[in-house]
Amino acid sequence: MNILEQIRKELPWLEDKVSYDLTRGKPSSDQLDISQQYLEKINQPYHIDGVDIRNYGLPEGLPSAKALGADIMGTSAEETLALDNSSLSLMQQILSCGYFLGFDKAKLDQNSKFICPVPGYDRHFKLLENFGFEMISIPFADDGPDLQALAQVLEQEANVAGIVCVPRHSNPTGHSYSDANVSEMFNLISQKKDNFMILWDNAYACHDLKPTIKQSSANEIAKNCGVWDNLFHLSSTSKITLAGSGIAFLSMSSSNINQFIDYRNSVTPGPNKMNQGLHVEYFKTISIEEQMNKLKEVILPKFELTEQYLSELQQEGLCEYKSPTGGYFFTFDSTSGKAKEIIDHCDQLGLKLLPLGSCHPNGKDSANRTIRIAPTFPDLQSLERCMQIFSKVVKYLN
Ligand SMILES: Cc1ncc(COP(=O)(O)O)c(C=O)c1O
Repeated sequence: MNILEQIRKELPWLEDKVSYDLTRGKPSSDQLDISQQYLEKINQPYHIDGVDIRNYGLPEGLPSAKALGADIMGTSAEETLALDNSSLSLMQQILSCGYFLGFDKAKLDQNSKFICPVPGYDRHFKLLENFGFEMISIPFADDGPDLQALAQVLEQEANVAGIVCVPRHSNPTGHSYSDANVSEMFNLISQKKDNFMILWDNAYACHDLKPTIKQSSANEIAKNCGVWDNLFHLSSTSKITLAGSGIAFLSMSSSNINQFIDYRNSVTPGPNKMNQGLHVEYFKTISIEEQMNKLKEVILPKFELTEQYLSELQQEGLCEYKSPTGGYFFTFDSTSGKAKEIIDHCDQLGLKLLPLGSCHPNGKDSANRTIRIAPTFPDLQSLERCMQIFSKVVKYLN
């Protein structure tokens, strides 16, 4: 009997041919129901902050939406823009602006290279790849990117013009960078401050599930290290209220704000202020902290369940993983270098995982090790089934 037949025999419910999916970090419907419950209690405003939000205007976003972004990111409202629905698309616009017009201290061209702490977020890599930028991988240390590796790349490589970081509950490893790591990183980068773009994707700024280190404002650290004009600090409410229908935020120096708004004026006549107004009203009925606690009640049991399976596999020497204290992901590293075989076998049993290499620039995981697990979307019972399939495949393949 081959492995697939053996597992089908042990898990008879696989005959139902239900498909299971751990690919994307999507909120579950239970999470979205929490937001809907509060949205139903509020009325859509049409005027807010003395502004008629039905009309064009305010390219920087509504003042009270900017203040909301500042609360989430630990920035100040004056330094923060409230824009459209996706921080990823803002990152694309920052890169375009840097490429076609150039920021004072961040000008990109076809020879620009970006440093990427790895494993990282597949959409970041795809975005950088789309611009034709070479990506240089560096590993992680416990408290953030490996700074020795970073120093070496900065010293040895020509045309290094940027780095992309997810500083809290990193996608997918769960790293939260220490202040010491960020300060040293920014100090190293300051050698290149005449032309460097720090893409600081704070997508999981307030998504703690367990006690997590406190972090100082990246803006303040950047100012102290002389790289404030190099920092492009992003976040959104996608994983706080409604995914894809939230507000994306961007915090940076006033000269970068001016250049970016000037560029954005040719991209859009202005952000969706109706949605910004709705979010401002929303957070009058529930605080960000209360909202995140409610989401935690749904997400934490899924993380605990996933971890039960991974810690058993780790004890048997079949994987390495780092226990995340928040965010949306686990990273599974196959100790025997069988990630592709695991992904393929799971696929044949009806469990979808991201393809091999998704957490690496250009899809290249030459060690055949890394699999991202995104446990939030399925309900608990389906997640249990996903992890049963996954764990049996790992065990039988080793
Ligand atoms: C690190 C990171 N950045 C950005 C996003 C997308 O955010 P948005 O919906 O604001 O584009 C995600 C979504 O999974 C993410 O993990």
